[in-house]
Amino acid sequence: MQGQPSRTTSQPLEMVDALTITDHRTGAQHRLEIQDETIRALQLRPIKVREEDFGLMAYDPGYTNTASCRSAITYIDGERGILSHRGYGIEELAEFSHHEEVAWLLLEGELPTEAELASFRREIAENYQPPGWMVDLFRSFPRESTPMFMIQAALAALGAAFPDSLEVHDPAVRRRHIMRLFGMTPALVALAFRRSRDFAPVEADPSLSYAGNFLRMMLGKPGEAYQPEPALERAMDALLVVHADHEQNCSAAVVRSVGSSEANAYSAVSGGAGALFGPLHGGANQAVLEMLDRIGSTEAIPGFLESCKKGEQRLMGFGHRVYKSYDPRARIIHNLAEKVFEVTGVNPHLAIARELERTALEDDYFISRKLFPNVDFYSGLIYDAMGFETGMFTPFFATGRMIGWLAHWNEMHHDPERRIARPRQIYTGPGPRDYPKAD
Ligand code: SDX
Repeated sequence: MQGQPSRTTSQPLEMVDALTITDHRTGAQHRLEIQDETIRALQLRPIKVREEDFGLMAYDPGYTNTASCRSAITYIDGERGILSHRGYGIEELAEFSHHEEVAWLLLEGELPTEAELASFRREIAENYQPPGWMVDLFRSFPRESTPMFMIQAALAALGAAFPDSLEVHDPAVRRRHIMRLFGMTPALVALAFRRSRDFAPVEADPSLSYAGNFLRMMLGKPGEAYQPEPALERAMDALLVVHADHEQNCSAAVVRSVGSSEANAYSAVSGGAGALFGPLHGGANQAVLEMLDRIGSTEAIPGFLESCKKGEQRLMGFGHRVYKSYDPRARIIHNLAEKVFEVTGVNPHLAIARELERTALEDDYFISRKLFPNVDFYSGLIYDAMGFETGMFTPFFATGRMIGWLAHWNEMHHDPERRIARPRQIYTGPGPRDYPKAD
Protein backbone atom coordinates (compact mmCIF):
# COMPACT_ATOMS: atom_id res chain seq x y z
CA MET A 1 0.00 0.00 0.00
CA GLN A 2 1.26 3.48 -0.73
CA GLY A 3 2.60 4.96 2.52
CA GLN A 4 2.13 8.66 3.35
CA PRO A 5 5.06 10.32 1.42
CA SER A 6 7.38 12.34 3.66
CA ARG A 7 7.01 16.08 2.97
CA THR A 8 10.29 17.22 1.36
CA THR A 9 9.03 20.45 -0.20
CA SER A 10 6.74 23.29 0.87
CA GLN A 11 4.51 22.56 -2.14
CA PRO A 12 1.46 20.32 -1.43
CA LEU A 13 2.31 16.87 -2.72
CA GLU A 14 0.05 15.31 -5.37
CA MET A 15 -0.54 11.71 -4.27
CA VAL A 16 0.88 9.73 -7.24
CA ASP A 17 2.88 6.52 -7.66
CA ALA A 18 6.23 8.21 -7.97
CA LEU A 19 9.34 9.15 -6.01
CA THR A 20 11.07 12.49 -6.25
CA ILE A 21 14.68 12.22 -5.17
CA THR A 22 17.32 14.90 -4.87
CA ASP A 23 20.88 14.20 -5.95
CA HIS A 24 22.80 16.18 -3.36
CA ARG A 25 25.93 15.98 -5.53
CA THR A 26 24.24 18.28 -8.06
CA GLY A 27 21.04 19.56 -6.40
CA ALA A 28 19.09 18.03 -9.31
CA GLN A 29 15.72 16.43 -8.59
CA HIS A 30 14.69 13.20 -10.29
CA ARG A 31 11.23 11.62 -10.56
CA LEU A 32 11.05 7.82 -10.45
CA GLU A 33 7.78 6.13 -11.36
CA ILE A 34 6.52 3.43 -8.98
CA GLN A 35 4.81 0.39 -10.50
CA ASP A 36 3.77 -2.75 -8.56
CA GLU A 37 5.55 -1.41 -5.48
CA THR A 38 8.84 -1.37 -7.42
CA ILE A 39 10.95 1.11 -9.30
CA ARG A 40 12.66 0.03 -12.52
CA ALA A 41 16.42 0.09 -11.81
CA LEU A 42 17.04 1.65 -15.24
CA GLN A 43 15.33 4.80 -13.96
CA LEU A 44 18.47 5.38 -11.92
CA ARG A 45 20.77 5.49 -14.93
CA PRO A 46 20.03 9.17 -15.92
CA ILE A 47 21.15 10.30 -12.45
CA LYS A 48 24.67 11.56 -13.12
CA VAL A 49 27.13 14.24 -12.07
CA ARG A 50 28.73 14.65 -15.50
CA GLU A 51 27.01 13.93 -18.80
CA GLU A 52 29.69 11.39 -19.71
CA ASP A 53 29.08 9.42 -16.49
CA PHE A 54 27.59 5.92 -16.81
CA GLY A 55 24.85 6.85 -14.33
CA LEU A 56 23.60 5.22 -11.14
CA MET A 57 22.93 1.48 -10.75
CA ALA A 58 21.27 -0.43 -7.91
CA TYR A 59 23.61 -2.67 -5.89
CA ASP A 60 21.96 -5.72 -4.31
CA PRO A 61 24.24 -8.71 -3.43
CA GLY A 62 22.13 -11.89 -3.33
CA TYR A 63 19.19 -9.95 -4.79
CA THR A 64 17.74 -9.45 -1.29
CA ASN A 65 15.45 -6.63 -2.52
CA THR A 66 15.34 -7.06 -6.29
CA ALA A 67 12.46 -8.45 -8.37
CA SER A 68 13.87 -10.22 -11.43
CA CYS A 69 10.61 -10.99 -13.23
CA ARG A 70 6.84 -11.07 -13.09
CA SER A 71 5.38 -14.47 -12.22
CA ALA A 72 1.87 -15.80 -11.56
CA ILE A 73 2.90 -19.25 -10.35
CA THR A 74 3.64 -18.88 -6.62
CA TYR A 75 2.98 -16.28 -3.95
CA ILE A 76 4.82 -16.10 -0.62
CA ASP A 77 4.13 -13.73 2.29
CA GLY A 78 7.21 -14.28 4.45
CA GLU A 79 5.98 -12.22 7.39
CA ARG A 80 2.67 -14.10 7.61
CA GLY A 81 4.01 -17.53 6.61
CA ILE A 82 1.79 -17.79 3.54
CA LEU A 83 2.63 -19.95 0.51
CA SER A 84 0.17 -20.44 -2.34
CA HIS A 85 0.29 -21.76 -5.90
CA ARG A 86 -1.99 -19.94 -8.35
CA GLY A 87 -3.98 -18.78 -5.29
CA TYR A 88 -4.39 -22.18 -3.61
CA GLY A 89 -2.82 -22.47 -0.11
CA ILE A 90 -0.06 -25.06 0.29
CA GLU A 91 -1.83 -26.53 3.33
CA GLU A 92 -4.91 -27.52 1.26
CA LEU A 93 -2.85 -28.70 -1.71
CA ALA A 94 -0.71 -30.91 0.54
CA GLU A 95 -3.77 -32.37 2.27
CA PHE A 96 -6.25 -32.77 -0.59
CA SER A 97 -4.29 -32.68 -3.88
CA HIS A 98 -1.66 -34.89 -5.53
CA HIS A 99 1.62 -34.05 -7.23
CA GLU A 100 0.21 -34.65 -10.71
CA GLU A 101 -2.70 -32.26 -10.07
CA VAL A 102 -0.38 -29.61 -8.58
CA ALA A 103 1.91 -30.02 -11.60
CA TRP A 104 -1.01 -29.21 -13.93
CA LEU A 105 -1.91 -26.24 -11.71
CA LEU A 106 1.62 -24.83 -11.87
CA LEU A 107 1.84 -25.29 -15.64
CA GLU A 108 -1.69 -24.34 -16.71
CA GLY A 109 -2.79 -21.89 -13.98
CA GLU A 110 -6.01 -23.69 -13.04
CA LEU A 111 -6.87 -27.00 -11.37
CA PRO A 112 -7.56 -29.67 -14.04
CA THR A 113 -10.96 -31.12 -14.75
CA GLU A 114 -11.28 -34.84 -14.10
CA ALA A 115 -10.83 -35.53 -17.81
CA GLU A 116 -7.82 -33.22 -18.05
CA LEU A 117 -6.21 -34.89 -15.01
CA ALA A 118 -6.80 -38.40 -16.37
CA SER A 119 -5.24 -37.46 -19.71
CA PHE A 120 -2.36 -35.67 -17.97
CA ARG A 121 -1.63 -38.71 -15.79
CA ARG A 122 -1.48 -40.88 -18.91
CA GLU A 123 0.87 -38.39 -20.61
CA ILE A 124 3.15 -38.39 -17.55
CA ALA A 125 3.19 -42.18 -17.30
CA GLU A 126 4.09 -42.42 -21.00
CA ASN A 127 7.22 -40.50 -20.03
CA TYR A 128 8.18 -42.44 -16.90
CA GLN A 129 10.84 -44.51 -18.66
CA PRO A 130 14.06 -42.77 -19.84
CA PRO A 131 16.10 -44.02 -22.82
CA GLY A 132 17.90 -47.34 -22.14
CA TRP A 133 21.35 -45.80 -22.49
CA MET A 134 20.69 -43.79 -19.33
CA VAL A 135 21.41 -47.01 -17.40
CA ASP A 136 24.87 -47.13 -19.02
CA LEU A 137 25.44 -43.47 -18.10
CA PHE A 138 24.76 -44.19 -14.42
CA ARG A 139 26.89 -47.34 -14.56
CA SER A 140 29.76 -45.16 -15.81
CA PHE A 141 29.80 -43.24 -12.51
CA PRO A 142 31.91 -44.58 -9.63
CA ARG A 143 29.52 -46.35 -7.26
CA GLU A 144 30.45 -44.04 -4.39
CA SER A 145 29.53 -40.90 -6.42
CA THR A 146 27.36 -38.37 -4.59
CA PRO A 147 23.90 -38.82 -6.18
CA MET A 148 23.39 -35.12 -6.95
CA PHE A 149 26.48 -35.13 -9.20
CA MET A 150 24.99 -38.02 -11.15
CA ILE A 151 21.56 -36.44 -11.37
CA GLN A 152 22.79 -33.02 -12.46
CA ALA A 153 24.84 -34.68 -15.23
CA ALA A 154 21.97 -36.98 -16.25
CA LEU A 155 19.47 -34.12 -16.59
CA ALA A 156 21.71 -32.37 -19.13
CA ALA A 157 22.64 -35.67 -20.82
CA LEU A 158 18.96 -36.56 -21.27
CA GLY A 159 18.71 -33.66 -23.72
CA ALA A 160 21.11 -35.51 -26.03
CA ALA A 161 18.30 -37.99 -26.72
CA PHE A 162 16.00 -35.20 -27.87
CA PRO A 163 17.75 -32.73 -30.19
CA ASP A 164 14.42 -31.11 -31.13
CA SER A 165 14.42 -29.69 -27.58
CA LEU A 166 16.58 -26.86 -28.92
CA GLU A 167 13.48 -25.38 -30.60
CA VAL A 168 12.55 -23.48 -27.42
CA HIS A 169 10.29 -20.97 -29.22
CA ASP A 170 7.80 -23.67 -30.19
CA PRO A 171 5.22 -24.11 -27.38
CA ALA A 172 4.50 -27.68 -28.49
CA VAL A 173 8.22 -28.53 -28.29
CA ARG A 174 8.48 -26.90 -24.85
CA ARG A 175 5.47 -28.89 -23.64
CA ARG A 176 6.88 -32.18 -25.00
CA HIS A 177 10.14 -31.74 -23.14
CA ILE A 178 8.50 -30.45 -19.98
CA MET A 179 6.55 -33.73 -19.91
CA ARG A 180 9.67 -35.80 -20.62
CA LEU A 181 11.64 -34.15 -17.82
CA PHE A 182 8.73 -34.24 -15.38
CA GLY A 183 7.97 -37.89 -16.20
CA MET A 184 11.56 -39.14 -16.24
CA THR A 185 13.06 -37.34 -13.22
CA PRO A 186 11.92 -40.00 -10.72
CA ALA A 187 13.64 -42.63 -12.87
CA LEU A 188 16.90 -40.66 -12.97
CA VAL A 189 16.82 -40.21 -9.20
CA ALA A 190 16.07 -43.92 -8.76
CA LEU A 191 18.95 -44.83 -11.10
CA ALA A 192 21.31 -42.74 -8.96
CA PHE A 193 20.05 -44.45 -5.80
CA ARG A 194 20.35 -47.93 -7.30
CA ARG A 195 23.80 -47.16 -8.72
CA SER A 196 24.97 -46.17 -5.23
CA ARG A 197 23.77 -49.54 -3.90
CA ASP A 198 24.92 -51.49 -6.97
CA PHE A 199 21.30 -52.60 -7.58
CA ALA A 200 20.00 -53.40 -11.07
CA PRO A 201 17.50 -50.84 -12.38
CA VAL A 202 13.75 -51.39 -12.08
CA GLU A 203 11.40 -50.66 -15.01
CA ALA A 204 8.70 -48.01 -14.57
CA ASP A 205 5.13 -49.12 -13.97
CA PRO A 206 2.73 -46.76 -15.81
CA SER A 207 -0.19 -48.12 -13.79
CA LEU A 208 1.21 -46.54 -10.61
CA SER A 209 0.87 -42.92 -9.46
CA TYR A 210 3.82 -40.54 -9.79
CA ALA A 211 4.83 -41.11 -6.16
CA GLY A 212 4.05 -44.82 -6.34
CA ASN A 213 6.14 -45.35 -9.46
CA PHE A 214 8.94 -43.33 -7.84
CA LEU A 215 8.94 -45.63 -4.80
CA ARG A 216 8.76 -48.67 -7.08
CA MET A 217 11.80 -47.60 -9.09
CA MET A 218 13.66 -46.89 -5.87
CA LEU A 219 12.68 -49.89 -3.74
CA GLY A 220 11.24 -52.49 -6.13
CA LYS A 221 12.98 -55.57 -7.51
CA PRO A 222 13.57 -56.06 -11.26
CA GLY A 223 10.82 -58.09 -12.88
CA GLU A 224 8.74 -58.28 -9.72
CA ALA A 225 5.40 -56.64 -9.03
CA TYR A 226 5.54 -53.83 -6.44
CA GLN A 227 2.76 -52.12 -4.56
CA PRO A 228 3.95 -49.17 -2.44
CA GLU A 229 2.92 -49.06 1.22
CA PRO A 230 -0.09 -46.61 1.07
CA ALA A 231 1.07 -44.41 3.97
CA LEU A 232 4.55 -44.07 2.41
CA GLU A 233 3.10 -43.40 -1.07
CA ARG A 234 0.87 -40.70 0.43
CA ALA A 235 3.78 -39.21 2.38
CA MET A 236 6.06 -39.16 -0.68
CA ASP A 237 3.25 -37.56 -2.70
CA ALA A 238 2.73 -34.83 -0.09
CA LEU A 239 6.50 -34.23 0.14
CA LEU A 240 6.65 -33.79 -3.63
CA VAL A 241 3.77 -31.29 -3.40
CA VAL A 242 5.36 -29.14 -0.67
CA HIS A 243 8.64 -29.04 -2.60
CA ALA A 244 7.04 -28.26 -5.97
CA ASP A 245 7.80 -24.56 -6.21
CA HIS A 246 8.86 -21.58 -4.17
CA GLU A 247 8.92 -18.53 -6.48
CA GLN A 248 12.39 -17.08 -7.24
CA ASN A 249 14.46 -19.32 -4.95
CA CYS A 250 18.12 -19.74 -5.82
CA SER A 251 17.64 -22.75 -8.12
CA ALA A 252 14.54 -21.41 -9.90
CA ALA A 253 16.41 -18.15 -10.49
CA VAL A 254 19.25 -20.17 -12.06
CA VAL A 255 16.80 -22.04 -14.30
CA ARG A 256 15.42 -18.71 -15.49
CA SER A 257 18.90 -17.29 -15.93
CA VAL A 258 20.08 -20.25 -18.04
CA GLY A 259 16.78 -20.23 -19.96
CA SER A 260 17.09 -16.50 -20.63
CA SER A 261 19.85 -17.26 -23.15
CA GLU A 262 17.25 -19.43 -25.00
CA ALA A 263 18.99 -22.58 -23.74
CA ASN A 264 16.92 -25.77 -23.74
CA ALA A 265 14.99 -27.14 -20.75
CA TYR A 266 17.50 -29.94 -20.00
CA SER A 267 20.42 -27.51 -19.66
CA ALA A 268 18.28 -25.12 -17.62
CA VAL A 269 17.11 -27.67 -15.03
CA SER A 270 20.61 -29.16 -14.83
CA GLY A 271 21.76 -25.71 -13.77
CA GLY A 272 18.95 -25.56 -11.25
CA ALA A 273 20.05 -28.91 -9.83
CA GLY A 274 23.54 -27.49 -9.39
CA ALA A 275 22.17 -24.58 -7.34
CA LEU A 276 19.92 -26.84 -5.29
CA PHE A 277 22.95 -29.02 -4.46
CA GLY A 278 24.33 -26.34 -2.14
CA PRO A 279 23.90 -26.83 1.65
CA LEU A 280 22.36 -23.36 2.03
CA HIS A 281 19.57 -24.38 -0.39
CA GLY A 282 18.36 -27.88 -1.17
CA GLY A 283 21.37 -29.51 0.45
CA ALA A 284 20.10 -28.34 3.85
CA ASN A 285 17.86 -31.38 4.41
CA GLN A 286 20.95 -33.59 4.26
CA ALA A 287 22.91 -31.12 6.41
CA VAL A 288 20.15 -31.26 9.07
CA LEU A 289 20.55 -35.03 9.53
CA GLU A 290 24.32 -34.71 9.63
CA MET A 291 23.90 -31.90 12.21
CA LEU A 292 21.56 -34.05 14.35
CA ASP A 293 24.12 -36.87 14.18
CA ARG A 294 26.85 -34.46 15.31
CA ILE A 295 24.72 -33.19 18.22
CA GLY A 296 24.09 -36.79 19.24
CA SER A 297 21.86 -36.19 22.27
CA THR A 298 19.41 -33.65 23.70
CA GLU A 299 21.93 -32.91 26.44
CA ALA A 300 24.36 -31.56 23.83
CA ILE A 301 21.84 -29.07 22.40
CA PRO A 302 22.68 -26.04 24.59
CA GLY A 303 26.38 -26.29 23.71
CA PHE A 304 25.59 -26.69 20.02
CA LEU A 305 23.32 -23.64 19.99
CA GLU A 306 26.00 -21.61 21.74
CA SER A 307 28.39 -22.49 18.90
CA CYS A 308 25.76 -21.34 16.41
CA LYS A 309 25.38 -18.03 18.24
CA LYS A 310 29.15 -17.55 18.04
CA GLY A 311 28.92 -18.10 14.28
CA GLU A 312 30.98 -21.30 14.50
CA GLN A 313 28.11 -23.41 13.09
CA ARG A 314 24.74 -22.89 11.45
CA LEU A 315 21.48 -24.33 12.73
CA MET A 316 20.68 -26.11 9.46
CA GLY A 317 17.02 -26.26 8.55
CA PHE A 318 16.45 -22.92 10.30
CA GLY A 319 16.21 -19.47 8.77
CA HIS A 320 14.99 -18.29 5.39
CA ARG A 321 15.56 -15.33 3.09
CA VAL A 322 11.80 -14.76 2.74
CA TYR A 323 10.04 -16.44 5.68
CA LYS A 324 10.45 -14.40 8.85
CA SER A 325 7.89 -16.67 10.48
CA TYR A 326 7.30 -20.42 10.55
CA ASP A 327 7.70 -21.92 7.03
CA PRO A 328 4.21 -23.40 6.44
CA ARG A 329 5.84 -26.37 4.73
CA ALA A 330 7.82 -27.21 7.87
CA ARG A 331 4.57 -27.53 9.83
CA ILE A 332 3.04 -29.77 7.13
CA ILE A 333 6.12 -32.00 7.01
CA HIS A 334 6.31 -32.19 10.81
CA ASN A 335 2.71 -33.48 10.89
CA LEU A 336 3.48 -35.85 7.99
CA ALA A 337 6.42 -37.28 9.92
CA GLU A 338 4.10 -38.51 12.66
CA LYS A 339 2.09 -40.54 10.09
CA VAL A 340 5.23 -41.99 8.48
CA PHE A 341 6.69 -42.97 11.86
CA GLU A 342 3.52 -44.98 12.59
CA VAL A 343 4.66 -47.20 9.69
CA THR A 344 8.44 -47.02 9.95
CA GLY A 345 8.88 -46.57 13.69
CA VAL A 346 9.88 -43.26 15.26
CA ASN A 347 13.14 -41.85 13.96
CA PRO A 348 15.63 -41.64 16.90
CA HIS A 349 16.69 -38.23 15.60
CA LEU A 350 13.16 -36.88 16.18
CA ALA A 351 13.64 -36.27 19.91
CA ILE A 352 16.80 -34.23 19.26
CA ALA A 353 15.10 -32.30 16.44
CA ARG A 354 12.06 -31.45 18.56
CA GLU A 355 14.17 -30.32 21.55
CA LEU A 356 16.46 -28.37 19.23
CA GLU A 357 13.46 -26.57 17.73
CA ARG A 358 11.89 -25.89 21.13
CA THR A 359 15.14 -24.52 22.60
CA ALA A 360 16.03 -22.37 19.57
CA LEU A 361 12.52 -20.86 19.41
CA GLU A 362 12.94 -19.70 23.02
CA ASP A 363 16.40 -18.21 22.43
CA ASP A 364 16.69 -14.49 21.72
CA TYR A 365 19.46 -15.01 19.14
CA PHE A 366 17.05 -16.90 16.89
CA ILE A 367 13.95 -14.93 17.89
CA SER A 368 15.60 -11.56 17.21
CA ARG A 369 16.76 -12.77 13.78
CA LYS A 370 13.35 -14.30 13.02
CA LEU A 371 14.90 -17.70 12.47
CA PHE A 372 12.30 -20.47 12.33
CA PRO A 373 12.32 -24.05 11.00
CA ASN A 374 12.16 -24.18 7.20
CA VAL A 375 11.13 -26.87 4.74
CA ASP A 376 14.38 -28.76 5.30
CA PHE A 377 14.23 -29.14 9.08
CA TYR A 378 11.97 -32.20 9.26
CA SER A 379 11.95 -33.58 5.70
CA GLY A 380 15.22 -35.48 6.13
CA LEU A 381 13.84 -37.23 9.22
CA ILE A 382 11.13 -38.76 7.03
CA TYR A 383 13.51 -39.88 4.30
CA ASP A 384 15.86 -41.26 6.99
CA ALA A 385 12.97 -43.18 8.60
CA MET A 386 12.09 -44.59 5.16
CA GLY A 387 15.61 -46.05 5.09
CA PHE A 388 17.27 -43.69 2.58
CA GLU A 389 20.79 -42.41 3.06
CA THR A 390 21.36 -38.66 3.42
CA GLY A 391 22.84 -38.42 -0.11
CA MET A 392 19.33 -39.06 -1.48
CA PHE A 393 17.64 -36.21 0.39
CA THR A 394 18.54 -33.41 -2.02
CA PRO A 395 17.65 -35.60 -5.03
CA PHE A 396 14.19 -36.04 -3.44
CA PHE A 397 13.95 -32.25 -3.13
CA ALA A 398 14.93 -31.95 -6.82
CA THR A 399 12.26 -34.49 -7.80
CA GLY A 400 9.56 -32.35 -6.21
CA ARG A 401 11.01 -29.07 -7.48
CA MET A 402 11.38 -30.22 -11.09
CA ILE A 403 7.86 -29.11 -12.01
CA GLY A 404 8.46 -25.69 -10.44
CA TRP A 405 11.64 -25.21 -12.44
CA LEU A 406 9.84 -26.25 -15.63
CA ALA A 407 6.86 -23.99 -14.94
CA HIS A 408 9.18 -20.99 -14.46
CA TRP A 409 11.19 -21.89 -17.58
CA ASN A 410 7.98 -22.06 -19.58
CA GLU A 411 6.45 -18.92 -18.07
CA MET A 412 9.61 -17.01 -18.92
CA HIS A 413 9.06 -17.78 -22.61
CA HIS A 414 5.70 -16.02 -22.45
CA ASP A 415 7.18 -12.91 -20.83
CA PRO A 416 7.33 -10.01 -23.33
CA GLU A 417 9.98 -8.40 -21.11
CA ARG A 418 12.25 -11.48 -21.21
CA ARG A 419 15.87 -10.48 -21.81
CA ILE A 420 19.09 -12.42 -21.37
CA ALA A 421 20.17 -12.25 -17.72
CA ARG A 422 23.30 -10.16 -17.56
CA PRO A 423 23.87 -8.29 -14.25
CA ARG A 424 26.34 -5.40 -13.97
CA GLN A 425 29.08 -5.10 -11.33
CA ILE A 426 31.04 -2.61 -9.27
CA TYR A 427 34.60 -2.89 -10.59
CA THR A 428 37.16 -3.03 -7.79
CA GLY A 429 40.22 -4.07 -9.81
CA PRO A 430 43.32 -2.04 -10.76
CA GLY A 431 43.17 0.92 -13.15
CA PRO A 432 44.73 0.91 -16.65
CA ARG A 433 48.39 -0.20 -16.73
CA ASP A 434 50.88 -1.11 -19.47
CA TYR A 435 52.08 -4.65 -20.11
CA PRO A 436 55.73 -4.89 -19.01
CA LYS A 437 57.87 -4.94 -22.19
CA ALA A 438 61.11 -6.92 -22.40
CA ASP A 439 63.97 -4.33 -22.55
C1 SDX B 1 15.69 -23.57 1.11
O1 SDX B 1 14.65 -19.33 -1.14
C2 SDX B 1 13.90 -20.33 -0.98
O2 SDX B 1 12.73 -20.25 -1.19
C3 SDX B 1 14.63 -21.62 -0.59
C4 SDX B 1 13.73 -22.80 -0.24
C5 SDX B 1 12.97 -23.30 -1.45
O3 SDX B 1 11.91 -23.92 -1.24
O4 SDX B 1 13.49 -23.16 -2.58
O5 SDX B 1 12.82 -22.42 0.79
C6 SDX B 1 14.57 -23.99 0.25
O6 SDX B 1 16.77 -23.36 0.61
C7 SDX B 1 15.43 -23.38 2.58
C8 SDX B 1 16.70 -22.88 3.34
C9 SDX B 1 17.59 -24.09 3.62
N1 SDX B 1 18.88 -23.67 4.18
C10 SDX B 1 19.20 -23.85 5.47
O7 SDX B 1 18.44 -24.34 6.31
C11 SDX B 1 20.63 -23.46 5.82
C12 SDX B 1 20.64 -22.65 7.12
N2 SDX B 1 19.97 -21.36 6.86
C13 SDX B 1 20.81 -20.29 6.47
O8 SDX B 1 22.09 -20.47 6.07
C14 SDX B 1 20.10 -19.00 6.10
O9 SDX B 1 19.08 -18.81 6.98
C15 SDX B 1 19.60 -18.90 4.68
C16 SDX B 1 20.66 -19.21 3.70
C17 SDX B 1 18.45 -19.84 4.47
C18 SDX B 1 19.09 -17.48 4.48
O10 SDX B 1 20.19 -16.67 4.51
P1 SDX B 1 20.06 -15.06 4.43
O11 SDX B 1 18.69 -14.63 4.15
O12 SDX B 1 21.15 -14.57 3.50
O13 SDX B 1 20.33 -14.64 5.91
P2 SDX B 1 21.74 -14.27 6.50
O14 SDX B 1 22.73 -15.35 6.16
O15 SDX B 1 22.05 -12.87 6.08
O16 SDX B 1 21.47 -14.34 8.08
C19 SDX B 1 20.93 -13.22 8.77
C20 SDX B 1 21.42 -13.41 10.21
C21 SDX B 1 22.94 -13.59 10.31
O17 SDX B 1 23.32 -13.18 11.62
P3 SDX B 1 23.93 -11.69 11.83
O18 SDX B 1 25.01 -11.48 10.75
O19 SDX B 1 22.74 -10.76 11.65
O20 SDX B 1 24.52 -11.69 13.24
O21 SDX B 1 20.87 -14.62 10.76
C22 SDX B 1 21.94 -15.53 11.02
C23 SDX B 1 23.15 -15.06 10.25
O22 SDX B 1 24.34 -15.48 10.90
N3 SDX B 1 21.48 -16.85 10.56
C24 SDX B 1 21.70 -17.98 11.19
C25 SDX B 1 21.04 -18.95 10.41
N4 SDX B 1 20.47 -18.37 9.35
C26 SDX B 1 20.75 -17.07 9.43
N5 SDX B 1 22.37 -18.28 12.32
C27 SDX B 1 22.38 -19.57 12.68
N6 SDX B 1 21.77 -20.58 11.99
C28 SDX B 1 21.10 -20.29 10.85
N7 SDX B 1 20.49 -21.27 10.19
